[in-house]
Amino acid sequence: MIARELISLPSFAEDVEQGLSSSPKTLPSKLFYDEAGSALFEQITRLPEYYLTRIELEILRDRGAEIAQEVRPGVTVVELGSGTATKTTTLLQAFARRQLRVPYFPVDISPAALGEARERVESLCTRVSVRPVVADFSYGFGFLRGIPGRKLVLYLGSSIGNFDPGPAVEMLSQIRSQLATGDALLLGTDLVKDPSILVPAYDDAQGITEQFDKNILARLNRELGANFDLDFFRHIAIWNPEKSRMEIYLESLRPQAVNLASLNLDVRFANGERLHTENSYKYTMPMVRELLESSGFSLDATWFDRRTWFALHLARV
Ligand code: AVJ
Repeated sequence: MIARELISLPSFAEDVEQGLSSSPKTLPSKLFYDEAGSALFEQITRLPEYYLTRIELEILRDRGAEIAQEVRPGVTVVELGSGTATKTTTLLQAFARRQLRVPYFPVDISPAALGEARERVESLCTRVSVRPVVADFSYGFGFLRGIPGRKLVLYLGSSIGNFDPGPAVEMLSQIRSQLATGDALLLGTDLVKDPSILVPAYDDAQGITEQFDKNILARLNRELGANFDLDFFRHIAIWNPEKSRMEIYLESLRPQAVNLASLNLDVRFANGERLHTENSYKYTMPMVRELLESSGFSLDATWFDRRTWFALHLARV
């Protein structure tokens, strides 16, 4: 137990203590996204090997009109984890061609990202009115109730891929419980494909993903007084076909001990020991159907890119 009453520790301190004390060692992947990590992720989305963002955008651009057509006019668009809404403008424009006014509620944990989202969307989509919502999904999706009108909820970017199957169903069920008949969900999933494409997407030649992975250690150094030496770890990305997921790890390059001063914790690493930092699930259509149906949605339509590397799914309540 950490005496949080006595010294002020970041809210993730207990998760870190628990993850580093378990075997195998793990850290929660949400820790990637501090300011430095979010900037590194932006860089990842532009890497030649990281096809996800580019292809999803391509589908939104090429099929946006069709997607909009599947939804009855008069809809309110809610985007979970909108960030700066760079991908969404093209879809919003497709909706704006079918209805006079498109209410758009971008939801994100970062007020700065929401400010940028608002500016971008307001300047590019004249008929869209932006109503940013600051929310942390770990407190649930109650904010959805407060958004008026028939809703299309966007959950893009294969963000669902970070969740194990059980928690993924739990989360989509929570979203579902805040929606009503007539509402819908547009879900972006990355798809199972050859490991020769998957692995480099998570282990790029420029080493940006390595920096992104190691930023988690840098963050513990900054925020928990830890003394991780980033040079004594290497980034690895592995395709796990049984679990249908990419796994990323930091592997200790020698036996070493690390101290996390704020947690009063010493952690030993054996040579070659791996610290698990992220899973990124890759879906097949049966997996998608199972996920949506177990969460109380019915799968209505799917749009793919020409190589079927990525998919957008429209699910109804
Ligand atoms: C933001 C969860 C969609 O899993 O592809 C990218 C995160 N990790 N490179 C993904 C990530 C390493 C990304 N998601």
